[in-house]
Amino acid sequence: MSATQSGQIPPVITIDGPSGSGKGTVAFRMAQELQWPILDSGAIYRVLGLAVHRANIDPTNPDNVGEIVQLAESLPLTFEAEPETGEVVAVLDGEAVGDLIRSDEAGVRASEVAKIPEVRTALLQRQRDFRKFPGLIADGRDMGTIVFADAPVKIFLTASAETRANRRFEQLKQKGIDASLCALLESIKARDERDRTRTVAPLVPAEGAFVVDSSNLSIDEVFSQVFEYSKKVLGM
Ligand code: DC
Repeated sequence: MSATQSGQIPPVITIDGPSGSGKGTVAFRMAQELQWPILDSGAIYRVLGLAVHRANIDPTNPDNVGEIVQLAESLPLTFEAEPETGEVVAVLDGEAVGDLIRSDEAGVRASEVAKIPEVRTALLQRQRDFRKFPGLIADGRDMGTIVFADAPVKIFLTASAETRANRRFEQLKQKGIDASLCALLESIKARDERDRTRTVAPLVPAEGAFVVDSSNLSIDEVFSQVFEYSKKVLGM
């Protein structure tokens, strides 16, 4: 029996995949169903990207790595639940930055800092500290491959770039924001390329991961496949 099965180590369900694959929604529903907290690791990179931007540091200049690592190590970031909705928001040095970090620009900045190996190392323990009983849903890119490589349940969600661009387009339209589908597709492809080909923790399915392509599935179908698989593996 593994340490997780025997109850010595809190179990983790890792959900990795590119943005727009539906992993955020699936992670949220899994957390609701199991009553486990979520680690939104992308939010950590997004907040760091924001802090780097505010400090006027160019993340693409290799001379700045030391400064960015220092910021990552001392980042005054907490996640707090809104008293009314229960929604968890990122708080940077006392300021709720939940909305600020959701823009596409913030995603690009996150991807730029996430490319730096020393930054990923600096953020490793901060992410592992979220592992507590009764268990954790960990949402990101390298949750199953690096951060929680010993997780008993690993999920990898994917969807075609076209599907993901369409989903984003619809999301923005609902918010009344004008966007070009073509530009969104290009931006998604560029971000995928950067995330997949970086030297550390590239976006790939973990060994043994349960892979679900959500291109032609509803979010209910994806959730149900992931939930049933997770319950089976955890013996719930
Ligand atoms: O999941 P997201 O869109 O919020 O992530 C924003 C960026 O952060 C994404 O481009 C890649 C990076 N990221 C990462 O490198 N590793 C993670 N575990 C999570 C996100």
